[in-house]
Amino acid sequence: MRRQAATRRTALTVCTIADIAAGLLGLWILCLLTRTVTCRFAGRMSRLRIEKVDGDATVHDWQHVHNLVIPTHYRSLDEVRERSGHNVLEVAYLDDTLIGCTTVRPPTGETPVATVIARVLPDHRGQGFGAELYERGLAQARELGAEAIETVVLASNRDGLRFAQRRGFAVIDEYVLPGETIPWVELRLAADALSAAD
Ligand SMILES: CC(C)(COP(=O)(O)OP(=O)(O)OC[C@H]1O[C@@H](n2cnc3c(N)ncnc32)[C@H](O)[C@@H]1OP(=O)(O)O)[C@@H](O)C(=O)NCCC(=O)NCCS
Repeated sequence: MRRQAATRRTALTVCTIADIAAGLLGLWILCLLTRTVTCRFAGRMSRLRIEKVDGDATVHDWQHVHNLVIPTHYRSLDEVRERSGHNVLEVAYLDDTLIGCTTVRPPTGETPVATVIARVLPDHRGQGFGAELYERGLAQARELGAEAIETVVLASNRDGLRFAQRRGFAVIDEYVLPGETIPWVELRLAADALSAAD
């Protein structure tokens, strides 16, 4: 009898240890999964506040970034206001600091091509903001029904050209606008890169 009781106690102890071990293992797996999901979510969370150009402050900020990044192509405040009526113009802030702007020219009745341009102020480059703004512009262009995406970069802007080419754009044209000296390079997103962004 005493031996049976001892055997039962031992079996119970083994079961309890096994249960605790299984519980701990489950808890550990849950922690790992939670951490993975949290990290992925955090990785996709934006540090930027992005606003549509709408009103004097955003018109002014968009103009500032545009004219600083492309000094050869000055845009007046009135031109920015006029363009915000038919293009999607946005400005991006890191906390309250202006860091960049975007242009999305939607497809028209004449062409299913949209133009997406991301611009980041020099002090804020190399931190992933350009990629974030570009991807946002790409998504907007697709929502507007674009079947193809183009971008334009000044030929002197080696970083911009590399940025676009690394994302699947290929050069389709190069031209000098009247009164300017630096050529503009027009690039188009390859069809497979566009469908990969689905
Ligand atoms: C092109 C432009 C928008 C890039 O802006 P950016 O904020 O520097 O862009 P990102 O930081 O996302 O990427 C730039 C490079 O830095 C790298 N990078 C991104 N995050 C990084 C980080 N945390 N540490 C180090 N490097 C990083 C990227 O890999 C990228 O390299 P790649 O161009 O070889 O792919 C900017 O140079 C610009 O405004 N140029 C003028 C306008 C223009 O030409 N626009 C292009 C048409 S879309």
